[in-house]
Formats: sequence, C-alpha cells, structure tokens
Amino acid sequence: MLEAVERKIEQYVLDLNEPDIAKVVSKIPAGKRLRAKLMLEIAGNGLSVVKSAAIVEMIHAASLLHDDVIDDASTRRGVDSINAIFGNKSAIMVGDVLYSKAFYELIDIDRFVAKSISNAVVQLSIGERKDVYMGDSFNTDKAAYIEMIYQKTAALIEAASESAAILAGKPKDIYKTYGRNLGIAFQMIDDILDIVSDSKTLGKPALNDFKEGKTTLPYIYLYEVLNTEDKEKLKSLHKRALKLNEQEWILAKFKEYNIIEKAKQEAFELINEAIEIMQKAGEHGLEAIAIKMVDRSF
Ligand code: FPP
Ligand code: MG
Repeated sequence: MLEAVERKIEQYVLDLNEPDIAKVVSKIPAGKRLRAKLMLEIAGNGLSVVKSAAIVEMIHAASLLHDDVIDDASTRRGVDSINAIFGNKSAIMVGDVLYSKAFYELIDIDRFVAKSISNAVVQLSIGERKDVYMGDSFNTDKAAYIEMIYQKTAALIEAASESAAILAGKPKDIYKTYGRNLGIAFQMIDDILDIVSDSKTLGKPALNDFKEGKTTLPYIYLYEVLNTEDKEKLKSLHKRALKLNEQEWILAKFKEYNIIEKAKQEAFELINEAIEIMQKAGEHGLEAIAIKMVDRSF
C-alpha cells in the first residue's frame, strides 16, 4: 500500500517537469513514512487517501530539508543531508517547491482535510522557531518543552490521523488523540536517543541536542533533582562543545538519578494511552504501529 504513496510522490515531482529538482528529490531518503502508514491504516488505500498521504509526506520532507539547514546538519537518516550535498540554498528552495506543490494538490482533496493539514503546518513552523530560540537559554520549563514538541512534531502526525479519519468517515477525536500522543512520544524518544545512542547508530553526534542548546526532557528532569552546585555545573556546560569528561559527567548524573528511565516512562505512558484507545476501537493495525514504535526505539 505504501508503494502507491511512493508512486504518487514521484508523480507529483514529475508533474513539475524540472529534472534538476527531481534529481535533488531523488537523493532524499524516504524514511519510515510513519505519517503515510497511519493514514493508510486508518482510511485504506483509496485515491484521496493516497494523495493526502503523499501530500503529508512531501510537507514532512520539506520541513526536514529546512530543518537541516536551520540545524546545520550534515547528515539525515545516516546519509549526507541535502544541504550537505547541494548546499543550503538548494535545500531551502527544493523544500519550498515540495511544500508548495503539496499545498497545490491539497486544495482539491477536501476542505476539512485542507484545514487540518494547513493548520498543522502553521504549528510546525511556530514549533520549529520555538525550538531554535528556546535553545538560547537553559530551559527548565517542562510545559514549554511539551508544547514546543507538540507543535514541531506531533501537530502534523495529529493532522494526518485526523485527516484520514475525515476521509474514512470515522469519529475523528480518538484518531487525533492517538496521533498527538504518538507524535509527542516519538519526539521524546528521539530526544532520549540523542543521549543514549552512540553517534554511529544515530547518524549524528551524541549529546548533540545539549550542545545545540536544547534542554530536552531528560535535562529538565536532571536539573530538577541536582543540588545547587551541580545545577550550576550543568548550566555551565549548556550550549558548548563538551570534552569527553564533561559528557561522562552528564551521563553519570543521568544514571545516578535514573533520569532516562523516568523520561522513557513518560513517553511510554502516552503510547500506552494511544494503544488503549485503539484497542477499544478495534483498530489493531494502529495498536501494532504504536507498539512497534516502542520496540524499535530501544
Ligand atoms: C525536526 O526536529 C524538525 C521538525 C519536526 C519540524 C521542522 C519544521 C520546519 C523547519 C518548518 C518548515 C515549514 C515548512 C512550511 C516547510 P529536530 O531537529 O529536533 O529533529 P532531527 O533530529 O530529526 O533533526
Ligand atoms: Mg534537526
């Protein structure tokens, strides 16, 4: 079924009649296609669903092209990022093309689907900006972190689920909650992996978030429990290229206070709630996607 979405994306890109752009797009690794998978699982593989899934994946791809420029990332999904291969200008402009083409196709789908997805793109742009500027200072506000990751990551997954429910004529609220929970948990897990994975598995340097100024959930929890002296020490390491012994100090403190477990628990609670909702609704495929998200990550 996912194959139909891949073909639709290819077709949308071919429609542009711009071989140079198609060449750049062909270098974007497809990734897990989580959003498309959810949509097909919720609504089947009718043409509107396939088109909507392709649109959502193109918007997601565009946002990552821009994100890698903003984050100055040289790799994505373990391979060279588009900005690393073709330069920042190309990554931004191809992102703009993908995004605009997606919106051009979106207007013909359904008014409520268009509203849901376009609103999510507003949220994801606002969330990205928050993520960047929150990194200027050491954020200790958990609610601000959750709101930011909701906007940056979960809003589009929530809208993908809601849109699929609209297309399938299913009650949209439970699918929205499912998508929202999965999205927030997904970003929490991504942020935990930045700490627990080695740089090879991750495709980017470990503890990179903290170096970038991002105090993700584990850092917020750690700050809460440290004594005054250690709080100051952690703050002094924020947004710096860390020496090996400084990295080890942070990792040892995470271990001492069982912080990673606590952060994982928070993500798992959201996923469990999503699983329960889908169990009740008899949506076993969606249940399985949620379970797999936990299994694959750690
Ligand atoms: C990845 O976060 C980034 C996002 C999920 C959203 C990025 C959104 C934008 C750049 C707005 C773009 C808007 C349009 C209209 C195209 P991350 O840096 O935490 O994750 P990573 O480790 O995967 O890079
Ligand atoms: Mg990034």
